[in-house]
Amino acid sequence: MSNPREVQLVSRPVGWPTPENFALVESAPTELAQGQIRVRNEVMSVDPYMRGRMSDAKSYAEPYALGEAMHGGAVGEVVESRADGVAVGDHVLHGLGWREEAVLDATSARVVDTSVAPASAYLGVLGMTGLTAYAGLTRVAGLKEGDVVFVSGAAGAVGSAVGQIAKALGASRVIGSAGSQEKVDHLLDDLGFDAAFSYKDGRVSDLLREAAPDGLDVYFDNVGGDHLEAAIGSLRLGGRIAICGAISVYNNTEAAPGPRNLARLIQTRGTIQGFLVGDHYDLAGEYAHKAAGWIADGSLTSRETFVDGIDHAVDGFLGVLRGDNVGKMLVRL
Ligand SMILES: NC(=O)c1ccc[n+]([C@@H]2O[C@H](COP(=O)([O-])OP(=O)(O)OC[C@H]3O[C@@H](n4cnc5c(N)ncnc54)[C@H](OP(=O)(O)O)[C@@H]3O)[C@@H](O)[C@H]2O)c1
Repeated sequence: MSNPREVQLVSRPVGWPTPENFALVESAPTELAQGQIRVRNEVMSVDPYMRGRMSDAKSYAEPYALGEAMHGGAVGEVVESRADGVAVGDHVLHGLGWREEAVLDATSARVVDTSVAPASAYLGVLGMTGLTAYAGLTRVAGLKEGDVVFVSGAAGAVGSAVGQIAKALGASRVIGSAGSQEKVDHLLDDLGFDAAFSYKDGRVSDLLREAAPDGLDVYFDNVGGDHLEAAIGSLRLGGRIAICGAISVYNNTEAAPGPRNLARLIQTRGTIQGFLVGDHYDLAGEYAHKAAGWIADGSLTSRETFVDGIDHAVDGFLGVLRGDNVGKMLVRL
């Protein structure tokens, strides 16, 4: 029988990553030390932030090492345990994705209940993705009842949670942008957005003004670039912008120009604040409680897009950068 496989980064992408930047290799057999578990990964996450870790530029997260397996969120079944409190058959959430089998200290894993939600949900709406949406809206953007909210990347994992959570928390109008008419239809027909547009259909500032003629109180930015500039231009008095991501520039080889209209923030007394979900894990319990209620009453639904097999993990990752996904992009192993 062959050994489990893992995906290594073998060269650092310049601009868009290509399959040549990665190698699928068999991992070396590892004995468990006391306190460790062996996990057969069932599902792993591919996320836009991983693009940043493939570069060696200084960032909040360590770059992936060349010639080693990459890592990221994953859920799998424990197949061997030398740790108290974690039994064979348990499912755990942990940080050693990009491989079929993970060996890690049990203290770095969290047992999850796959009878109440599928394993994939702990990587999406019930995990980091959902918490990002909740923390960004409530703590960073200070969402208030009656606010008009705009979110970009709205049909993606974070964005689709943002739109629905904003509604559940009393936003008066939620507007989303996405990259295709099919995604726009999904926002309007399935996720309860009040207005949506495809950013490929014209100038974002024009499309946004049409969708939010009275302006915005909150912009949740997943995209950066012209979306950010458009949102600054549509901000109302006291408007707040939470910078969550800037996927439109992640593959740029030169720095993109900043918004040209920052001076509008003087008139609107607007604020822009970036955030990292990692600083807001104290909200995880509060969010899990609320999310359970919203999921139960149907106000928070989540789509997932799967690719199958570790040999397609890189395709899944490239797909999330291209926008192949609706909702959370995941790799089933
Ligand atoms: N700050 C934090 O702690 C934190 C945590 C999690 C995620 N994030 C950020 O949140 C954002 C969303 O992450 P996610 O995991 O939910 O990914 P996602 O939205 O599910 O997937 C990324 C989406 O970005 C869109 N996109 C790609 N290129 C674009 C472009 N040039 N202009 C506009 N949209 C583009 C694509 O959809 P279209 O078809 O619509 O183009 C794609 O589906 C990312 O920027 C990510 O880095 C930040």
